[in-house]
Amino acid sequence: MTIRGTLGLLMGSIDGEDVYVTAGCTQAIETTMSILAKPHCNILLPRPGYPTYALCASLENVEVRYYDLVPQNNWQVNLEDIEHLADQNTIAIVIINPGNPCGSVYSIVYSYDHLKKIAETAKRVKTLVVADEVYGHLAFGENPFTPMGLFSSITPVLTLGSLSKRWLIPGWRLGWFVINDPNCAFKSPKIIERINKYSDIYGGPATFIQAAVPKIIESTKEDFFMNTLKMLKKNLDICYERIMEIPCINCPYKSQGSMFVMVKLNTTLLQDVSDDMDFCYKLAKEESVILLPDDERKKEVILLGIGDPTAHSCFQTTNAAKDAVVESLLLDKFNGYSPIPGLPTTRK
Ligand SMILES: Cc1ncc(COP(=O)(O)O)c(C=O)c1O
Repeated sequence: MTIRGTLGLLMGSIDGEDVYVTAGCTQAIETTMSILAKPHCNILLPRPGYPTYALCASLENVEVRYYDLVPQNNWQVNLEDIEHLADQNTIAIVIINPGNPCGSVYSIVYSYDHLKKIAETAKRVKTLVVADEVYGHLAFGENPFTPMGLFSSITPVLTLGSLSKRWLIPGWRLGWFVINDPNCAFKSPKIIERINKYSDIYGGPATFIQAAVPKIIESTKEDFFMNTLKMLKKNLDICYERIMEIPCINCPYKSQGSMFVMVKLNTTLLQDVSDDMDFCYKLAKEESVILLPDDERKKEVILLGIGDPTAHSCFQTTNAAKDAVVESLLLDKFNGYSPIPGLPTTRK
């Protein structure tokens, strides 16, 4: 099975032709922004959100408009914001599910309706949804993960993902974006040509990693994923308990997924601390603990990581993934893979 075919199957019965392989989800974000960008366009991003989107947008001269995630409503999307912010130049609405940094999971059980409403709102404002599912399946609360692609018959969905989080191999730089568009509302020959041209210049992941992907996906056992979820949940429980013991901070929403938890500061109980930036700065200076302040608008929340695999050696990938790469190298499996993923090798 080809890498594109394998990834298509992983995401349901998606045709491999609709899967594009990238160097991590970061490159999927950059590519998506480049292929969607046009003069005077704008994109709707979640707040709080993941800063790479705004960075990539600025590189492509795409205006960023932020819609709010509502903490009192389990960090769901403020759909009214979307209706107000979108116009005929809106190229996409970005959602991150499971959420970084809020730890929310929009799910088929608990908020199936919410995902559907996001798709319907996107359709009403005549745009598509970019669903960042880099934390896909990393849901350890009561809400199981639901892919946004399920709603692509309402409006086209571009799903972004990677092996970084679920397989715990962020440094291997293997990601993808997938076009979920059963009604071919987005997937015109012009768009496909644009993606292929862009693929020509971006350069993708190393060929020996590409060659290993089918085996990594086929042979990673369920207990590896269960173990990661168990560890994330355990870390979250420890974080949550300790946070609740400290009078000047609390955690109004206990994460259900991803690798983060948002902490709220009660600045009135803190002496000489004006806001989140000030808190993080003083904590680093006094305790050598570095925390990430949130975006500019919410001055009272900070973000804690509960298990980013890049930061913890206790998170290790599966032997199946290691074996797959060794096999790819030893058996020269990587010959026949193109450094421009998805396109045939040019110098056979
Ligand atoms: C929401 C989100 N999207 C994308 C990425 C980038 O993923 P990758 O490491 O595969 O480039 C991250 C990484 O932390 C992320 O949190």
